[in-house]
Amino acid sequence: MVSDRFGRSIRDIRVSLTHRCNLRCIYCHGEGECNPGGELEASEIERIVAMVADEGVSRVKLTGGEPLLRRDILEVVERISSVPGIEEVSMTTNATLLQDVAGDLKEAGLKRVNVSLDTLVPERYREITGFDMLDSVLRGVDEAVRVGLNPVKANMVLLREVNDDEIWDLVRFTRERKAILQVIELVDLGDDSVFQRFHADVEPLESELQGCMEKVAVRSMHKRKKYFLPDGSEVEIVKPVHNSDFCSNCTRIRLTSDGKLKPCLMRNDNLVDIAEPLRNGADSKTLRELFLKAVNLREPYYRTGKE
Ligand code: 5AD
Ligand code: SF4
Repeated sequence: MVSDRFGRSIRDIRVSLTHRCNLRCIYCHGEGECNPGGELEASEIERIVAMVADEGVSRVKLTGGEPLLRRDILEVVERISSVPGIEEVSMTTNATLLQDVAGDLKEAGLKRVNVSLDTLVPERYREITGFDMLDSVLRGVDEAVRVGLNPVKANMVLLREVNDDEIWDLVRFTRERKAILQVIELVDLGDDSVFQRFHADVEPLESELQGCMEKVAVRSMHKRKKYFLPDGSEVEIVKPVHNSDFCSNCTRIRLTSDGKLKPCLMRNDNLVDIAEPLRNGADSKTLRELFLKAVNLREPYYRTGKE
């Protein structure tokens, strides 16, 4: 396995399949991609994943934009999940288009899904995403659970005075589906006014969970805390902002939709283009060197200063 200069091993790759999306979430960070070029082909993605798998990466998260807008999404999932060394392929989706393809995705080798679900109130859903599609999303979630893309995780980005009174409704909703709720702190990527207006601290929720939990687990990735409640609910807290523990336990590298290795969500000044060399016939050794270069550029974004 490969490690960076800060001793963080690289176990996961987050692959953006497209920058396109059918929603317009007010907070969307678009995986930190700016002005991407054309999309990688399925076979190109497969080659890159196979190369990083050779270097010890074993988990792939497919993301976007909205990955289900790719017409070849089943082919992408099939190719990646049959790469030797890849143990888990999962996907983050807005679930608007999930209902019809959940079964096929499962068959193609997808293990589980994370679904963006910030609210259960239709008017709020429209306010946040710009579209009236909550019904399709909820049907998508139920279908994902039914076909066994488990554990389904619901991503709730906490937004002050928008959905911060809905946490316990979402806890119940996910518990009833044996799903997991991930409450995510809003990350500031450029649009400061959105951050100023909507950022909410997740600490009060953590204290509340601390008070009523049965057990807490700390995941190795990002040292994320996961609370188990006596009624069977599972709630994970994702708290990246100014959290040096989060960054010092980050085992992830990213691939942008246009084929650049991206060492950090928060930065666009240290991308390593792999698409062009690949298209110009680079051999495995050259691709591997590009991966090692990107790994070498990794730095914790939020840090204590002692690193
Ligand atoms: N802050 C935190 N999380 C975000 N997401 C998108 N934009 C942001 C942001 N600014 C998360 C959402 C979505 C996933 C793709 O990324 O949870 O489900
Ligand atoms: Fe961004 Fe996801 Fe919302 Fe699309 S659904 S706008 S990718 S956060």
